[in-house]
Parts: sequence; C-alpha cells; structure tokens
Amino acid sequence: MTDPAENLSPDELRTVQLERLQWTLKHAYENVPCYTRKFDEAGVKPEDCRSLEDLAKFPYTTKADLRDNYPFGMFAVPRADLRRVHASSGTTGKPTVVGYTERDIDNWATVMARSIRAAGGRPGHRVHVAYGYGLFTGGLGAHYGAEKLGCTVIPASGGMTARQVQLIVDFEPEVIMVTPTYFLTLLDEFERQGVDPRKTALRVGIFGAEPWTEQMRAEIEERADIDAVDIYGLSEVMGPGVAQECAETKDGLHVWEDHFYPEVIDPVEETVLAPGERGELVFTSLTKQAMPVIRYRTRDLTRLLPGTARPAFRRMEKVTGRTDDLIILRGVNVFPTQIEEIVLRTPGLAPHFQLLLSTQGRMDSLTVRVEARHDTPADRRGPAAAEVIAEVKDTVGVSVSVDVVDPDTLERSMGKLRRVIDQREGR
Ligand code: DLL
Repeated sequence: MTDPAENLSPDELRTVQLERLQWTLKHAYENVPCYTRKFDEAGVKPEDCRSLEDLAKFPYTTKADLRDNYPFGMFAVPRADLRRVHASSGTTGKPTVVGYTERDIDNWATVMARSIRAAGGRPGHRVHVAYGYGLFTGGLGAHYGAEKLGCTVIPASGGMTARQVQLIVDFEPEVIMVTPTYFLTLLDEFERQGVDPRKTALRVGIFGAEPWTEQMRAEIEERADIDAVDIYGLSEVMGPGVAQECAETKDGLHVWEDHFYPEVIDPVEETVLAPGERGELVFTSLTKQAMPVIRYRTRDLTRLLPGTARPAFRRMEKVTGRTDDLIILRGVNVFPTQIEEIVLRTPGLAPHFQLLLSTQGRMDSLTVRVEARHDTPADRRGPAAAEVIAEVKDTVGVSVSVDVVDPDTLERSMGKLRRVIDQREGR
C-alpha cells in the first residue's frame, strides 16, 4: 500500500512539480499581500515561471516576514476555510502562526503516512506518539499520519515520563515517535524502573524536531534494540513529514518533493548552490492552500543528494545544525552536534551534556558539562575529560573546558532540548 506518488519517475515528478509551482506562485501572489508586494518589488510575475529553474528569480521569505504579518496575514484563504492553526514559539516575542485547510491537513497526513511507512511502520502497528500535542506540530502531525497509514495511535504526548514507560510496556507499541533527547530520558526511566528497554515490542523509532548525530543513532539502537530513523520538518512549511529517512538505507532523508520543493543556497550570497554543495535549505510549498510559502529560508544547514530508496526524490543530508545554533567561539564556528559526536564516542561519558558559554576576562569560553555513565569508575572521569578537550581542539580547532558531573544531575529533555546555556555578558 505505497502512496502512488512514491513511484513517479523523475520526469513525471518534475512535470507535477512545475504545474504545482505555477499554481502556488499565482495563488500566493493573488491572495497574500506580502507576496504581491515582494514579487512587485522584485519585478517578477507568476507567469515568469516557465521552468523549475525560474523559481530562482523569485524573492525569499524569512521568519521576519511571518512575524511581521502576525497572526493571520500570510493566509491565502478566507478565515472560514481554515480548519486548524499551529504555532511555533520563537525564542523572542511573538510565535509564528501557521494555518491549514482541510485539504492541507489531508496532504500532511499523506506525507506523514508515507514517512512512517518508509521508517518501517505498517498498517496495524501500534504507534506511541510522544511528541507534544498542542500548538507544536509534532504530536498532531504524527497522529494524523499514523491513523492514515492504518495504525493504532497511542497519543501519549510529552511528559509524565514514568507513565510513558508503563504505557510502552503494557500497550506494546511497535513504533515510537519522539525527539531523540526525550527518548534518552525514556531510556533512563526504563533502567530506573528495572525494565530492559531491549525487551519491549518497539522495533522502530522515528526521531526528529532537533539535530542528532550518527553517534546518537548508534547509542539509541544499541540501548533499545530498534531501528532509529530521522524525520524532518518545520511548522512554516507544514510540520513533521517534509523529509524522511528510509529504514532500509538510513542514508539521509528523502524530501517529499511532490509537496515541498527544496533548494540549497549560500546563506550570505543568497545564490542557489549546485547539487551536493552544503548551505541553507530553502523550501517552496507546492500544494498548500492556507499558507503557501515561497522560497522559505529554514536556516537549517544541509546538502541535497540524489535519491536512493525512493529514486525520484532527492535526499537531504542529516541536518547538522541551524545557523541559529552556531556558536562562534573566539572566531571559530562550533555546532553542538560536533560536541555530541565527540562526547558519544568517548568511553565513560553519557549522552547527556550541556554547553555553557561564559565570559572570562574579555574572552568567551565554552564549558562542556557532561554526565559520567552509571558504571564509569571515578578515576575514568579525568582521562575522559582530557580526551574530549583534545578531540575538540583537534577536530573543531578550539579550546574548551570539560566538566564531568555525576549521573542524573543535568536537566533532562522533555521534547526539544536546549543544549546551549549562554551566560556571556551582554546577552
Ligand atoms: O520541529 C516539526 C517536527 C516535529 C519535525 C516532529 C520532526 C518531528 P518546528 O518546531 O517548527 O517544527 O521546528 C523546526 O526544528 O527548522 C530544524 O531546525 C529542527 N528540526 C526538525 N526536524 C529536525 C531533524 C518541528 N530531523 C526546526 N534534524 C527545523 C535536525 C530538525 N533538526
């Protein structure tokens, strides 16, 4: 029961994309004043798009555009046609509001069903959804997709960790959908309750909403005896289910390009990069009625690669970070995922760590605060810290301090984890 769109040939896909792109540009231009103004300022009309390459002539959309039109100014349909809104809480000020028509919700469920299937979920499976339900798109997005695939949904939402473990033991779901860091919290809770997480019915974990590394995949797969696959999405473009990693290849995420058209750009020059080059991911929605987005700048960094398990659909490499997470430490760029890789391959250290930025004298400094594992002997902590310091210096090129702390002392994730604590003066 694959979705027929998954079997499109590359040529058929391009034809569908162009048709939908032309519709989207017209729909946005005619119904959203922000796009009318932006297109006019750039001197382009929807009719100027005669090929997919012509999209490059059109202006970008940024989070600031969405914020300036808070709450409903980006919507392209009458208010009564909206069936749902979601919102993502920004770090500052007003949230970004997004909206869906009935058909948008149906398309979203379709791409989510496709994603769950690509991850290894099948009709009849029980799916434990531990993404938060509410304004966040994770919970409801996963929920509708799992139902559409023909699964039984267990809508656990986030939080109440001890009860989550109980539900997983008693209801025997085959699939769990959750952020990778909250799954780590659950794994610790399994161990606290004396339950072996390798012995549950779980076979597949669909992890996303935050960056995570190959080292984290290995840690999770080993501790839970499941296949851990990556799911990507963002509220502004739809929610989860924009791109999905396939269980059989685990080689990056296939972008569901019949609904979301990807480009990768140089974030400074703002030019489109060639296939395979790393830069900022940009999306244009192809079917959205309520809130079309034209060349939305995600701030996520990745590159586009040819399709494998779904040949017509390009893959995006695992997102290593967003421009927002980038720490510039004494002129050197550091992503939290680079530290995650190093921490996780250092014997004796747990996957729980925080990055503390502070000012010492006139210099910025970074302390990696990381937990020892329960079975780590006390005399292993010093050498482990020294190894991380040396590895960070070698591979990232910057000096950091490392503080190995007792197990179970750092704050645990309940969803998306905040890794960086910025205590620098003037922040
Ligand atoms: O996080 C949607 C989602 C829910 C995706 C559940 C996957 C699973 P937002 O709250 O709008 O939406 O945050 C979107 O989260 O721009 C990325 O920076 C980050 N992100 C999402 N998925 C991944 C991933 C949801 N697989 C922002 N890897 C995006 C890395 C991710 N970062």
